Amino acid sequence: VTGTGLPVRWGILGAGRIVSGAVGPALAATDRAVVVAVGSHDPERAAAVAPAATRGGYGDVVADPDVEVVYIALTNDAHVPWALRAVRAGKHVLCEKPLGVRAEEVEVLLDAAADAGVEVVEASWYRWHPRTRHAEALVAGGDLGEVVDVRAGFSFSGVPAGDYRLDPERGGGAVYDVGCYALSAVGWATRWAALEVVGVEQLGHVGGVDLHVTARCRAGTATAEVRASIDGPDAQWIEVVGSRGTLRFSPPAFTAWTAGAASLEVEEATTGRSETRTFPACNPYRSMVDAVSDRVRGRDAWVVPGSESLWVARAVDAILARFSPR
Ligand SMILES: NC(=O)c1ccc[n+]([C@@H]2O[C@H](COP(=O)([O-])OP(=O)(O)OC[C@H]3O[C@@H](n4cnc5c(N)ncnc54)[C@H](OP(=O)(O)O)[C@@H]3O)[C@@H](O)[C@H]2O)c1
Repeated sequence: VTGTGLPVRWGILGAGRIVSGAVGPALAATDRAVVVAVGSHDPERAAAVAPAATRGGYGDVVADPDVEVVYIALTNDAHVPWALRAVRAGKHVLCEKPLGVRAEEVEVLLDAAADAGVEVVEASWYRWHPRTRHAEALVAGGDLGEVVDVRAGFSFSGVPAGDYRLDPERGGGAVYDVGCYALSAVGWATRWAALEVVGVEQLGHVGGVDLHVTARCRAGTATAEVRASIDGPDAQWIEVVGSRGTLRFSPPAFTAWTAGAASLEVEEATTGRSETRTFPACNPYRSMVDAVSDRVRGRDAWVVPGSESLWVARAVDAILARFSPR
């Protein structure tokens, strides 16, 4: 990286599971980034993430002149408030999904980022997987013809008692946690067509938090069904049906990672012939942090555009608006 101005200096807010299990190791593994500060309530967890980094509160990281990018890995309610603080301090931001808990606050954040001339990127990490990039390119290139139906779902089990996902004050619930992934698949599959939520079924609603949700939608001229559950079964799928062909992701559709290869079945509508394209195991978290680091240095790299995060936030709003009470 000599002569490129790399590595980029990162600060992290929060030292919870996603940091220790995925993004911290990705940042440690790349030569494009170095973690210089970690903000956490727990100095031991902070030290485990990046032993050489300074430690303090979240505000210390945001104010640290050495930090160029702030990665926000806090509970969902805290994303926009801390991202705004970082942007207003002139920092670039990589923020965990969902970018915010209301579309309105996401818009405020994106406007603030544009004013400050900094990047704000949602860490919707599956979007960096080569399989997802390939599927998006097939749709965008018209290979499937006109997309007529999309089915996407993300369901898992094992949320422990006390987890913020079960707390409505912290942005808990299935739609925020995993619905945002499934909705984003509807977004790219329909090229971000105007979304209308036609019906919502909510099964299980504990302590103000949604556990299982099915939403039936229209996105432009396509129909879509989105499912999200934080109370099982464990399943993830993406199917995109077009007039000329259908795409099916092998499971897991969203969390394909270093454990194994991922595949994509492409079926031709007229002949029914199908071809399976295979993508080697990889680390999309690392591709994500590398892309953000490159962008910060003015290099060409794809990141999730803010407009797409806003589309997802509006879709989440439209689903949650049908819940009662909210
Ligand atoms: N991209 C992915 O694959 C992926 C996977 C899982 C989660 N996520 C996202 O990452 C974020 C964090 O999820 P996680 O699974 O890492 O959760 P977690 O282990 O519970 O960590 C959340 C962190 O938020 C901080 N926090 C601040 N106020 C809090 C409060 N009142 N209650 C609980 N925590 C509080 C804590 O940081 P300190 O104690 O260190 O200060 C805590 O470690 C969420 O937005 C989630 O949607 C992304």
